Amino acid sequence: MSTSVSIDWSQLGFSYFKTPYRYIARWKDGQWNAGELTEDNTLHISESSTALHYGQQCFEGLKAYRTKDGSVQLFRPDQNARRMHQSCDRVLMPRVPEDMFIDACLQVVKANLDYVPPYGTGATLYLRPFVIGVGDNIGVKPAPEFIFSVFCLPVGPYFKGGMAPVNFMVSEFDRAAPYGTGAAKVGGNYAGSLMPHEQAVEQGFADCIYLDPLTHTKIEEVGAANFFGITKDNEFVTPKSPSILPSITKYSLLYLAEHYLKMKVSERDVLIDHLDEFAEAGACGTAAVITPIGGVSYKGKLHVFHSETEVGPVTKKLYDTLCGIQFGDVEAPEGWLV
Ligand code: COI
Repeated sequence: MSTSVSIDWSQLGFSYFKTPYRYIARWKDGQWNAGELTEDNTLHISESSTALHYGQQCFEGLKAYRTKDGSVQLFRPDQNARRMHQSCDRVLMPRVPEDMFIDACLQVVKANLDYVPPYGTGATLYLRPFVIGVGDNIGVKPAPEFIFSVFCLPVGPYFKGGMAPVNFMVSEFDRAAPYGTGAAKVGGNYAGSLMPHEQAVEQGFADCIYLDPLTHTKIEEVGAANFFGITKDNEFVTPKSPSILPSITKYSLLYLAEHYLKMKVSERDVLIDHLDEFAEAGACGTAAVITPIGGVSYKGKLHVFHSETEVGPVTKKLYDTLCGIQFGDVEAPEGWLV
């Protein structure tokens, strides 16, 4: 199905694009108001908002997919709603009820339907829900008021080249503290990653890999995505740690590897000194989808997995299964699509 806006969908990267409508709701005196769609993409908030000073905010990322018959579906929005509950709990913000969250996402997709890229382009409509603390306040304490908003934009691949292997370097910096906010999707985790990311790019890498903050021996995350490896005996492995952001794509891949590809799966420690246990590796997330990892640079040496230029066969199967479900070509597990 073609849409009425003129965009070169195949050229889209992961950049801001102002679509016509976004949703906004406000929390005051213990409750959320009804929320509404607006064309205004700016926020007018108090200069003393906790979101600006103390990082009291969180966000989500999910996508809408156009299927072959032209209809549009969201992938597991209930999981994003629940993860946002955990993030809101961690930084003392009110939860957005799951039905309100999903309804807001649906309203935004419906209002911007022409911006859901056509089937076959590989592009998608990325939704960015967020909650921020606003209102007049100066002490380090929760805000008196909050905003929940959802905007959307059409996107292509997060890493240039899409489903092509890229190299990463192990960072000396940590993205999360041992008992900090690593498992919550809060902006501070991402602010702390800007400088290591820039250093990695300056050295010719796509992004950096973070090790566990306590011992610096185990892989935690790949930039703003999760890590997975395929062992030489075909097991899907992904790191387990309380400071990793629980990626919905990662948990979906764990399920698909086990139930669709009949692989052994495990969430366990992935030692940076044992990378040769893997035949293939990748980064996964809503934005990154699956990005094959060509090589990892650690202590001056590049460890190459399958290849720096070719996608490994298991990574390709996982990608085809996941994207097949998201774009409606492969039967989805019950309840995954809205
Ligand atoms: C996502 O995958 O949705 C993310 O949140 C990653 C990044 C763009 C922040």
